[in-house]
Amino acid sequence: MSLSATDSQHGEAKGKIIDKTIAESRVRLSQFMHIDQANAVGNVHGGEIVKLVDEAGALAAIRHARSLVVTVAIDSMTFMEPIYVGNVVTLDAELTYVGNTSMEVRVEVIAENALTGARTTTNSAYLVYVAIDNQGRPQRVPPLIAETDDEREIMEAAHERQAYRKQQRQREKQARKRLKATQGSNVDQTDSKHV
Ligand SMILES: CC(C)(COP(=O)(O)OP(=O)(O)OC[C@H]1O[C@@H](n2cnc3c(N)ncnc32)[C@H](O)[C@@H]1OP(=O)(O)O)[C@@H](O)C(=O)NCCC(=O)NCCS
Repeated sequence: MSLSATDSQHGEAKGKIIDKTIAESRVRLSQFMHIDQANAVGNVHGGEIVKLVDEAGALAAIRHARSLVVTVAIDSMTFMEPIYVGNVVTLDAELTYVGNTSMEVRVEVIAENALTGARTTTNSAYLVYVAIDNQGRPQRVPPLIAETDDEREIMEAAHERQAYRKQQRQREKQARKRLKATQGSNVDQTDSKHV
């Protein structure tokens, strides 16, 4: 069941699936970068940033679904600028798409030199989460409401990305099936030589 946008303004009704806006689950996390997060060169380790991106994205997805979520996809992440120890990293995460049980989140990373105030967008990424129940099974998430033309465009682009991922996933599944079948027939041939 899905209630209207007006209903959603009255908060979350227990047990009912209520449409939600992008703003309702938007997340901003800020963290000071410490020396123990540095790589051999002395900049912040890329893995630390990926972890923070995943945390911010997951929090936005949890806020939207109000359930546990798991990460199923992280699109390619490009690091455009280094992040230095002593920088304050801010992660802005917002939902861009929801399916039945999946949610795409865009996360933008900004590094700030707190002494000078200089801010740089260092990278952005799209991640996909699936809402799960207590048994780890995928469960329905509330529909996402676009409030502006910009948001509508963002959601349409996200829809296309998710359709592409689904296609890729289907291809991978078929490739795995073929590989398994080939491996199976190879095992049969090997066995028959020993008989
Ligand atoms: C998430 C999980 C329970 C889904 O189970 P499943 O049998 O694949 O379920 P489905 O095929 O019905 O997929 C569920 C949804 O996820 C989406 N999905 C699954 N894999 C995806 C991928 N690689 N990219 C994008 N979407 C994906 C499906 O399109 C579907 O979306 P929809 O319901 O909105 O249409 C299961 O894949 C899982 O446990 N994965 C491991 C997650 C994990 O451990 N992550 C790392 C640590 S958090």
